Order: sequence, then structure tokens, then C-alpha cells
Amino acid sequence: MKKIRYSTKTSMPKSLVVLISGRGSNMQTIHKRTLDGTINAEIKAVLSNNPIAGGLEYARENELASHVINHKEFNNRESFDQQLIDQIDVYEPDYLILAGFMRILTPGFVDHYHGRLINIHPSLLPRHQGLHTHARAIAAGDREHGASVHFVTAELDAGPVIMQAKVLIEAHHTAETLEQAVLKMEHLLYPQAIALLCSDRIKQQQDITVCDGEPLDTPLLLT
Ligand code: GAR
Repeated sequence: MKKIRYSTKTSMPKSLVVLISGRGSNMQTIHKRTLDGTINAEIKAVLSNNPIAGGLEYARENELASHVINHKEFNNRESFDQQLIDQIDVYEPDYLILAGFMRILTPGFVDHYHGRLINIHPSLLPRHQGLHTHARAIAAGDREHGASVHFVTAELDAGPVIMQAKVLIEAHHTAETLEQAVLKMEHLLYPQAIALLCSDRIKQQQDITVCDGEPLDTPLLLT
């Protein structure tokens, strides 16, 4: 496994737009890590497809620009995604961060942000793509579970992985307590991965992740 040093202060600050659908705890941690300098970037805006997403309140309280684009007001995915693109591109973000954004994106949208679009998924990809990952990991008898940060491609939860964090599944875990344990790791993992991205150390090249100029054969592991 590749070992890397975590120096991240070598490039110009980047601009981020964050997409959420719910409580936005990952977005909040990312925001805090931009403020303390761990991530060399600024969140330019938070967008939600859900008008009552809890994270919107945090955005307002912290004077982050926020927008709601309600998918229910659109006839099809293409027109919803085009409206998202129109709003996102006002901010000309270097990176678009999906943080609990629970909509499937069209290939057109994904292509538009090729190499600039990342997501966090609550499983050790490629295991457990899709929903209810914690319950499925327990039901499958997995010994470990976790979260993955990956570049987004047109195929759901299948883009090149950047970094993972692992959690041991213990006998006392229920889907709920395992979810809480994984979420705690997500709050360390996502800022770390975004910090590397924003210091130009991580890139997407076609269907692989490149770190410090070399293809990653296995994902980086949160240390
Ligand atoms: C997180 O656990 C994230 O990994 C998951 O949604 C949650 C959002 O929490 N994302 C997905 O399942 C995407 N497939 P948050 O709103 O508190 O950040």
C-alpha cells in the first residue's frame, strides 16, 4: 500500500461547491477544516435538492451561499441536472463535493465535471454499492466496514477510489451503531481526501486515481 506524507499547502486555494440532501454533517466538517486551514479551499456555495435539508440551516448560520433546487419540480433527470449545472457554474468551482447527495446523476452531468466531482460512500467499495450498506455489511457477516471517497463516474458508486477508512464490525453492532461509527470516520476521511485533492496531489486520469503522479493500485487508507 502506498505511504504518503500529508503536506498539503503547496498550491493556490481551491473553490468548492458542496451538494447535500440531508443533515449535512460531512459538509459541516469540511467547512470547519477549510476554516482551520487543513483544507486549502473555500466553500463557495451549498446546494440541496431537498428544501428541508438540515444542512441548509448550518449554511445560513455560517453565511455560506445556499440554493435549493428541488428535483420534484422537474419532469426528468436531464432538466434537473441542467439546472444544477447552471447554478453550480456561477461559482466556477475547482471541485464539486457530493456530501450525502442522494440523487443519481446523469452521464451528461458527470462528464461536465470529469475529474472534479467526488463523493463519499458508506462502504468499502467495491463492496456494498447502493443503499443500506451498514445493515448489508452485518448481514453478509463482514468483519470490517467503512467509507470510501471516490471520483464519480456515470456508473453508480463505481468510480476510482481515492481513500478509505475502516471500522471493525463487532458483535454488539446494529445497523444504527455501525452507521454512527462509520460516520465518525467519514468526518476524518473526507477532509483528508479533499485536502490532498486541493493540494493537487490527487488526480483522476480516465478510470484511475493518480497520487503524486503515480497510479494508485489500492486506495489510500486513513491513518
Ligand atoms: C453519509 O453517511 C454519506 O456517506 C452517505 O450519506 C450520509 C450523509 O450524511 N452517502 C451516501 O450514502 C451516498 N451514496 P451527512 O448528510 O450527515 O453528511
